Amino acid sequence: MKIAVLPGDGIGKEVTAQAVRVLKAVVGREAEFTEAPIGGEGLKAAGVPLPPATFELAKKADAILFGAVGGPGDESGPRQLRPGLGLLTLRRELKLFANFRPAFLFPELIGASSLKPELVEGLDLMILRELNGDIYYGEPRGISVGADGRRQGVNTMRYSEPEIERIAHVGFRAARERRRKLCSVDKANVLETMQLWRETVSQVGKQYPDVELRHLFVDAASMELLRAPKQFDVMVTPNMFGDILSDAAAMLTGSIGMLPSASVGEAAGSGHKGLYEPVHGSAPDIAGKDIANPIAAILSAAMLLRHSFNRSDDAARIERAVRAVLAQGCRTADIHQPGTTKVGTAAMGDAVLAALR
Ligand code: IPM
Ligand code: MG
Repeated sequence: MKIAVLPGDGIGKEVTAQAVRVLKAVVGREAEFTEAPIGGEGLKAAGVPLPPATFELAKKADAILFGAVGGPGDESGPRQLRPGLGLLTLRRELKLFANFRPAFLFPELIGASSLKPELVEGLDLMILRELNGDIYYGEPRGISVGADGRRQGVNTMRYSEPEIERIAHVGFRAARERRRKLCSVDKANVLETMQLWRETVSQVGKQYPDVELRHLFVDAASMELLRAPKQFDVMVTPNMFGDILSDAAAMLTGSIGMLPSASVGEAAGSGHKGLYEPVHGSAPDIAGKDIANPIAAILSAAMLLRHSFNRSDDAARIERAVRAVLAQGCRTADIHQPGTTKVGTAAMGDAVLAALR
């Protein structure tokens, strides 16, 4: 098992370290871990967010355990020197087009949600975000100077039928494994690209008569997500809308620090390459303080075992250990509540390791 470890920036380093400890405890010497810099760390090491050596390592690996990239000030400066580009290039070059972002509530954390307990009790939804297309990659793009000497910015929302078809199939198949409900999110009332999205998803849906398909405009979808989130099973979204909705969905569960994600390619879920990362970002404001929650990273390691190595038993073992630790009352600052014990990042890792034993 060749695992590339790309901790990246900010709390990415701290949380990934805990996930690696847990993985090592479970798979022992069967796995070979190799670490490489990406994002801001890539810039420091090699002057680019995705150093060639890191890219080679990621290409050869069976699975990639990813932390987070980015730091303060990333929104300015040339695009090719922004930390986030390291991640965007990996996703696209490795053709990891299907991004699973589950949002589920641990019963122990029901009080941590910003919604009323009855709205989120038993919440278990899956956002499936398309990850290789849309305005994230569409050309033309850039900032140019117009005839009046003033600048203008351009980005292009673009999807082809095959791109929509392949993510739709993954969506319908995922729904089949769950509660057989798929909600497709678009903005077909305004954008032609999204009209094509809706038509294509509907067309693919004819092959899955056993799955209930519904379409929502993204504005209505965001409202419904906050009004009655339990109505959803799987939501399939274009890249940009999925980026936004998945942060909102994650927060319903109390903390974005709890949720893992998997980005996979054509052979989704059958022992093939994937990139596994917490849904949260690099959180520079709390980096280096040993207070970040490593659970999202640890659960991402469980997803890695399940999807890239078909080791569902080991994945379930890790998930049980996390549950046990929460039941013991162990909490990092983001999910801490009166009556529970506040612990740091490394201590949370220790607790999960102890529960594994
Ligand atoms: C995410 C992040 C990334 C994205 C950034 C870091 C490029 O927000 O994974 O959700 O926009 O896809
Ligand atoms: Mg995001």
